[in-house]
Amino acid sequence: MAESSQKTHAIVFALPLQGHITPIVNLAMKLASKGCTITFVHTEFIHQMLSKSSEVDLFSEAHELGLDIRYKTIFDGFPVEFDRILHFIEYWETMLKDFPARVDEFVGKIIESESSSAYFLITDTFYTWPAIIARKYNLVNVSFWTEPALVFSIAYHLDLLRENGHFPCKDNVEENIHYIPGVSSINTRDLMPYLKESSITTLVQKIVLKIFDDQVKKADFILQNTVQELESETISALNQEQPTYAIGPINFSADSTKPAISQNLWPQADTKTWLDSKPPSSVLYVSFGSLDQTSKQIIQEIAHGLLLTKLSFIWVVRKDIVSSNDTDVLPVGFEDKIRDQGLVVEWCNQTMVLSHPAIGGFLTHCGWNSILESIWCGVPMICYPLASDQPTNRKLVVDDWKIGINLCDGESVTREEVAEKIHNLMSGTVSDGLRMEIKKFRTILQNALAIDGSSEKFFDQFIKDLKAKIH
Ligand code: UDX
Repeated sequence: MAESSQKTHAIVFALPLQGHITPIVNLAMKLASKGCTITFVHTEFIHQMLSKSSEVDLFSEAHELGLDIRYKTIFDGFPVEFDRILHFIEYWETMLKDFPARVDEFVGKIIESESSSAYFLITDTFYTWPAIIARKYNLVNVSFWTEPALVFSIAYHLDLLRENGHFPCKDNVEENIHYIPGVSSINTRDLMPYLKESSITTLVQKIVLKIFDDQVKKADFILQNTVQELESETISALNQEQPTYAIGPINFSADSTKPAISQNLWPQADTKTWLDSKPPSSVLYVSFGSLDQTSKQIIQEIAHGLLLTKLSFIWVVRKDIVSSNDTDVLPVGFEDKIRDQGLVVEWCNQTMVLSHPAIGGFLTHCGWNSILESIWCGVPMICYPLASDQPTNRKLVVDDWKIGINLCDGESVTREEVAEKIHNLMSGTVSDGLRMEIKKFRTILQNALAIDGSSEKFFDQFIKDLKAKIH
């Protein structure tokens, strides 16, 4: 079949959340490097945040490489000064209601403006409107999932969970589930919190229902930021339902000299000078991701636990890490007490920190990007999941893969247990075992991105299948 002369042109909509931006930016870059034209869309607010936090033009690297990425912004319906974190629910409720009409008009204009392109749509799976837009403009619809395939698979089978009385799932009930295709066993305590009875009316549950009862099943292709060898049964089972490609870890490339591309919503503190002064594998990195919050009491127990260890640490304490308006979340005098033991920052270049030889462990909330980054850098983890997919991701890291340990075994977090777990992670026999295991996982990720690796092959197969459908 002759190649069409039309450009294969992706219209890519990023979700306006940090943990979703980096993977979709890297996906766009990779597609462009394979010859696709990209129209990449951020909300105007995200554009403002990114521009404030970095002097470098977005996509400057892509343009230096001669990649055809056209960057555009779309209004999200709120003025720039509106606090989208403080008013999270109002923001997302309005996005659910009003954003699809804006996207509709926006996509219509792009398509009208250039008829020499064969367009398709790539959106974050968490958007609730792609199938409607794709149908209206007759676009191939590609859904991009930024969490593990395990989480996708559980949410994909809401009908089975309902039939078996596990959706909504009773709080505090522990039962093993064996009926989800490609998931040999999962305990109800490890399900995503938004599936629990206590979350019945939450916004996230509303979004997940809209996506998985309807939208996702209408996608032509599903891209997963995971690796076939990590989740082979789950990916294979999903493939029986819809064309699914494991193309991760999308934020990295086989060329380890190439730094990961990230677009940061907040300025990055300098951590290199401090890290350079520390011995190899001696520093614990602590971060709870970009969005979820915890309580001041837990932050304080962790702070005291860190002091008890006397080990070096870098801790990302975001301004909004606790849900109250309290800005003094650390114990009084903490920064004086830690002196050179620790460095507290509001945001940093996480991948750079994790890849520094001084880092020996990562206390993480188990966001999927953080897990992939930790594996990529060969750093074992202590897990303290906060929300969303994180409790389910924890199961993979601790129970299935054995590359991390839990921060606490019971319900509560105590400073003594925090200190004990950090010691176990950083040195001794538990630590040795974790380090040996994570090396194997690191190799799996590296191999997946090598020329003949699974993720590279699936990426190329995806492009082939996409072109066959479009042209
Ligand atoms: C949520 C979900 O829990 C996660 O699974 C999903 O993939 C994205 O949304 P989030 O809190 O954003 O998670 O965590 P994570 O997925 O780990 O992403 C955070 C990103 O921010 C990582 O790429 C990390 O490198 C970056 N980061 C974090 C920094 O660059 N600097 C920091 O100081 C902290």
